[in-house]
Amino acid sequence: MALKVIILAAGQGKRMYSSLPKVLHPLAGKPMLQWVIEAAQVLNPENIYVVYGHAGEQILAFFQDAPVQWIRQTAQLGTGHAVAQVLPYLNPEDEVIILCGDVPLISSQTLALLTRQLTQQALNLVIAKFDNPTGLGRIIRDEHSQILGIVEEKDATEQQRTIREIYAGILATSAANLLRWLPKLSHANAQQEYYLTEIVDFAVNENRPINGIFAKRPEEIQGVNTRSQLIQLERYYQLQQAERLLSTGVTLLDPTRFDLRGELAVGQDVIIDVNVIIEGKVTIGNHCYIGPNTVLKNVQMADHVEILANCVIETTVIASHCTIGPFARLRPGSQLAQGAKIGNFVEIKQATIGPKSKVNHLSYIGDATLGEQVNIGAGTITCNYDGANKHHTEIGDHAFIGSNSQLVAPVKIGEWATIGAGSTITKDVPSGQLSLSRVKQQIIPDWQRPVKKGKE
Ligand code: UD1
Ligand code: CA
Repeated sequence: MALKVIILAAGQGKRMYSSLPKVLHPLAGKPMLQWVIEAAQVLNPENIYVVYGHAGEQILAFFQDAPVQWIRQTAQLGTGHAVAQVLPYLNPEDEVIILCGDVPLISSQTLALLTRQLTQQALNLVIAKFDNPTGLGRIIRDEHSQILGIVEEKDATEQQRTIREIYAGILATSAANLLRWLPKLSHANAQQEYYLTEIVDFAVNENRPINGIFAKRPEEIQGVNTRSQLIQLERYYQLQQAERLLSTGVTLLDPTRFDLRGELAVGQDVIIDVNVIIEGKVTIGNHCYIGPNTVLKNVQMADHVEILANCVIETTVIASHCTIGPFARLRPGSQLAQGAKIGNFVEIKQATIGPKSKVNHLSYIGDATLGEQVNIGAGTITCNYDGANKHHTEIGDHAFIGSNSQLVAPVKIGEWATIGAGSTITKDVPSGQLSLSRVKQQIIPDWQRPVKKGKE
């Protein structure tokens, strides 16, 4: 007996009004379909089949390496028709879970519940009670509370529409049942579609046990049909992450103004100010402060790091006791050694900044290696690009680069070298030497400022 998971993802998602297929719309930075695939993977199924169709090329291109089998549904004739596309791949002894690509936050715990009491006979449905069940399939029960069927909103009577118990679009049953039931589906309904939910009628007729399984939290089974529903789920998810961080000892100054679009590992006594966005994989050490309006993407940060307001930092490694910002941009490949300081309006790219070195104001340091205790004056630029190729700049320990200098790469500045302010350096500078390239200052005596005409 093998577990197989089928994920339905062929629909267009008309109500998103988007050129992007619905299941590629991101929740917390990750396409909805990816959330569902990852939840399925936790169960260790033998196969995950994704039924795709609408905007198939876009979906396949995005999920090139996903560990799933793609089944094309050429015309979207309904959820039952979608599952039927997978029948040739099933063995009667398999257990099958059916998920929807537009129900992204389904938890693997709920899915485990769904298979736990599954017998060859049974049909297990994930259900919930919603205050507002509009648009969803309602659970019909008899006077003994036995499930009798699922009726879609469009087919429901006024009376049935008052039912708050709904079907989540997720179920588990045996492949044997599906192989017997799916060929019998009709499409005599308001939408002229083959509804998967009609199998409940067949199970009732055959006297099979039908179990309604409540999801742990209603949000996990919230389906997304509109952008509004997607954003509601996004906010729910973000608040959950914020609460989790608070409970592990992180101070988020406002949990409603924090966004995690990836994975975050945080040490102790970290303060995260408002409007911080975390993307990709980020680690923050102990005693760090992340200032407001900051974006951290794939950043590794040791202890006692201070990021002041309005910084954008990507693919960067930051050692302990560094200070960055406000208004700094660290681009991929930046590496800051212990105690380095990056000030305002500084851009760093593919550069190593040595211990206790300072780039305090208005500079661009790209494709460069700086030693320790280097001082980069305001307005310094590494001219790393000649229009065709990138070149490297190397600056030795204790070098002092005067303000408004241009270092035309490839170039090497020795240890303890000094560059006079306003220089354009095109040749290597030996250790300990002063180098200047500016025009000598002149004094013009008795020079008169021009005066406005008529005022002489
Ligand atoms: C479905 C259920 C409804 C349930 C709701 C929960 C049916 C008939 N109705 O309704 O009872 O309350 O989910 O969210 O099953 N899909 C395909 N191929 C198709 C049609 C749909 O792959 O031909 C996929 C869609 O991409 C989507 C999923 O199946 O991921 C559900 O389809 P959708 O049209 O959204 O069904 P609902 O009307 O939401
Ligand atoms: Ca839906």
